[in-house]
Amino acid sequence: MFLVLMPIQRTEKVWKNGKIIPWADASVDIMTHALHYGTGVFEGIRCYNTPKGPALFRAADHYKRFMESAKTYLMKIPYTQAQFVEATKQVVKANKLSDCYIRPIAFYGFGELAPNVLNCPVEVAIIAIKFGSYMAGAKERGIKCVVSSWTRISPAMIPTRAKACGQYLNSILAVTEAKARGADEAIMLNAAGFVAEASAENIFIAKDGVLVTPPLSAGILAGITRDSVIAVARDLNIPVEERNITREELYSADEVFLCGTAGEIIPVREVDGRAVGAAPGPLSRQLSKKFFEIVQGKDKKYFKWLDFVR
Ligand SMILES: Cc1ncc(COP(=O)(O)O)c(C=O)c1O
Repeated sequence: MFLVLMPIQRTEKVWKNGKIIPWADASVDIMTHALHYGTGVFEGIRCYNTPKGPALFRAADHYKRFMESAKTYLMKIPYTQAQFVEATKQVVKANKLSDCYIRPIAFYGFGELAPNVLNCPVEVAIIAIKFGSYMAGAKERGIKCVVSSWTRISPAMIPTRAKACGQYLNSILAVTEAKARGADEAIMLNAAGFVAEASAENIFIAKDGVLVTPPLSAGILAGITRDSVIAVARDLNIPVEERNITREELYSADEVFLCGTAGEIIPVREVDGRAVGAAPGPLSRQLSKKFFEIVQGKDKKYFKWLDFVR
C-alpha cells in the first residue's frame, strides 16, 4: 500500500506582517533570503472542531517553540506569543474554518545575497488551510516505514530543537528515499546510531506494556504531540521511558507509532520489511482515543490545552 498525502487548497485570507490580507497578495520577492538559503522558522498547529466551536490545540506551546526557533536564528519578531495566538484565531475566523491546519512562518526577506542575515528584514505570516488526515487510511491500517540511509541532522551541525526551514532538506531526502523503496515514511537514526524520529513525526515503541520514546538529547524535535502523548500516557497509568532506542528494538516492538501535529497518531505496521506486532496495537488505540477526545474538546481536564476561537 502506498499512502497519498492530502492535497492542499488555497484559502481566502492570510495574516501577513500584522494584517489580514487576500491570499493572492501575500507574495514574496524572488530574492527573499529564505528562498535561497532556507533562513526561516515555522510551526504547524491544528485547530479542531469542538462542542464550543473551533479550538487551537496547544497554540501557546507552538508559539513558544516558534519564538525559541526565531531566537536561535537571531530573528527579531515584533509580536508576542499572545499576539500570535490572537492573530491565528483571526485567520481561522476570516476563512470561516473549523477543523484546519495552521502554518505560521517567519523568514528573512529581501536584503542580502550571501549567507548573512544581518541586513535582511524579518517577515511573518500565518496561513490556515483545510486539512484532513495527513496520510489517508494510515490510522486504520498503519504505515510501512524503512530506516533511512540518511542520518538525522545532529545538534553539533545545526540546532535540532529549532523548527527551521532549511533543516527539512534532511527530512525530504529521507522521505523521498523511503517512497522510492516502496514505503510511506522514513525513520532516521542519529549520528550515534540510535533511533531519532521520522521525517515530520516523533516515534514511540511499546514493549511489554511500557511506552518508550527517544530522549530530546537524541537530536529530535521537541514535539508537542510527543509531549501530549507522554502526559496522557502517564495520566492513564501507562509507564513511559525516555531513553535511546536501537534499530533492532523497532523489529521486536509490540507496537510502533509516530506522532506529530499533521500526522496525529500514526500506527506503523512494518519496519524494514518486518511486521510490527500490531498496528494499531492496544496502547496506541487507547492513546489515540484519548488524544482525539482531548483535541475535540470532550475532556474538560485538558481544556488548558485548547484556545477556543470564538
Ligand atoms: C522533524 C519533526 N519531528 C517531530 C514533529 C512533531 O512535532 P509536533 O508534535 O510539535 O508537531 C515534527 C512536526 O512538527 C517534525 O517536523
